[in-house]
Amino acid sequence: MENLNISKGTKEQQYQSLIPQIKGLLTGENNVVANMANIAAALKEQFDFFWVGFYLVEGNELVLGPFQGPVACTRIAYNRGVCGTAWAKEETLIVPNVEEFPGHIACSSLSKSEIVVPILKDGNCIGVLDVDSKELNSFDLIDKQYLKAILELFTSQ
Ligand code: SME
Repeated sequence: MENLNISKGTKEQQYQSLIPQIKGLLTGENNVVANMANIAAALKEQFDFFWVGFYLVEGNELVLGPFQGPVACTRIAYNRGVCGTAWAKEETLIVPNVEEFPGHIACSSLSKSEIVVPILKDGNCIGVLDVDSKELNSFDLIDKQYLKAILELFTSQ
C-alpha cells in the first residue's frame, strides 16, 4: 500500500480508519526507522498535527528520531520536559496547555498542547511518541488509547 486513505469523521473514526492502514504499512517490515517514519507520516497526513515524531532512549537522554513537522531539539535529558517526564514515569502525559507544564521544552512557540506516549518493549521504555498541536486542549483519552494501540503495532513487529 502506498497511498493513505484519509478519512473524515470523528477523531475516533479517523483513528479506526488509520490503524488498519498503519498495520498494513508495518506488517512484514522489521526495520524500526522505516516503521517509525511511516507512523509519523500517517499520523501527520490524517490529522495534520503540527508536529509528530519519535524520541529514542540513548543512555540518559532521548535523541530525536523520525518525525514530521518543523525542525526540533535533538536531545532531551531524563525527566526533562514533557518527553523526558513521560519517559521517567513510563506514563502517557496529556498537556492541555504547554505553558502550564513546568519545564516544558519549547521547540516551537507555535506548539500549544501536547501528548507524549512512552514506547514500552519487553518492560523497558525505549523511547516516546510526541504529538504537538497549534491549538490548546487538542488531546484526550481517545488519542491516548489509539496512539498506544499504534505503538503496540510498532513494538510487536
Ligand atoms: N515539547 C517537548 C519537546 C519536544 S518538541 O515539542 C518536538 C518536551 O517538552 O519534552
